Amino acid sequence: VEIPMIDISTNLRQDPDAFKAASGLVGAACRDGGYFGIRTDAVSATLIRDTFREIDQFYQADEEEKEGYRATSQSQYLGYRGLGREKSRQHSGEEVCEQYRLGLVEPGQPVTPPVDHFEGPFPAGRKLFSEFVELGDTLTALLGEDLGLGSGAFDEHMQSPTHRIGFNLYGVGHAAKSKNSVSYAMSPHVDLSMFTMLTQDAPGLQIANRDGQWMDVPVDSGWVLFILGDYVERWTNGVYHGTPHTVVAVERDRASIQYKHRPSFGTVIEPFGKLVAEHPSASYQSFSTGKEYVSVLKRILGD
Ligand SMILES: [Fe+2]
Repeated sequence: VEIPMIDISTNLRQDPDAFKAASGLVGAACRDGGYFGIRTDAVSATLIRDTFREIDQFYQADEEEKEGYRATSQSQYLGYRGLGREKSRQHSGEEVCEQYRLGLVEPGQPVTPPVDHFEGPFPAGRKLFSEFVELGDTLTALLGEDLGLGSGAFDEHMQSPTHRIGFNLYGVGHAAKSKNSVSYAMSPHVDLSMFTMLTQDAPGLQIANRDGQWMDVPVDSGWVLFILGDYVERWTNGVYHGTPHTVVAVERDRASIQYKHRPSFGTVIEPFGKLVAEHPSASYQSFSTGKEYVSVLKRILGD
């Protein structure tokens, strides 16, 4: 099993032929397992390296200092989620990692403490987030183009997007501190996002292909992994496939950076009519990225 590689350069949108060609490659990968590697000048290798440094530094702080950035419903879940905070959706235990989230919040809704507070420990991570947003916008246009809906197909749902970037630490000592009976660190799941782009500094991530075979994602700083999320699978009525992924037990500390591209808060995702007609056997239900998504977060993270 191989991960296809696709070049997505920053000037792709100025070159109609190259844009068309890339949309075909991205679409083919999404109709298959939903995953591919992105080789791009849009996210800077230096910023990725600096962000991994910030992650290392942050997680070395003592628990009390980290809890000063605690993620709550008042912070719209920006900030720190300590070990054991996230409950698994697959088993009765917890996910074996520490987490941190930055990103865009629901407009008009107060964030307490303010967004700046949460961005404090991650100046490079915040800049990296902005680069991912732009790359994500290009990918969104490529998906619309491939689907025959036009490059602006998703625009009406992207007026106040709720993109997020996550910095996770899977520590070697974490498993011993958790009461889990499962051997993996992160339960297999498909992301609640349009798509996710990620990179890791040590092995551990596995993705599944359409036959359900799991494969290791190699550690390589030359590209970032794209995996399709639940939202676009749903929007396409299953024409595209979300990528199941998991993190196995780690043999050395592993940090990951995951960027999630998300539509406006409160978007109700319903399959596009054209794709329902093309794929009538599937029957995806609608999902609200407002109420329903928040209730998932409350269930797995508490208040
Ligand atoms: Fe995930």
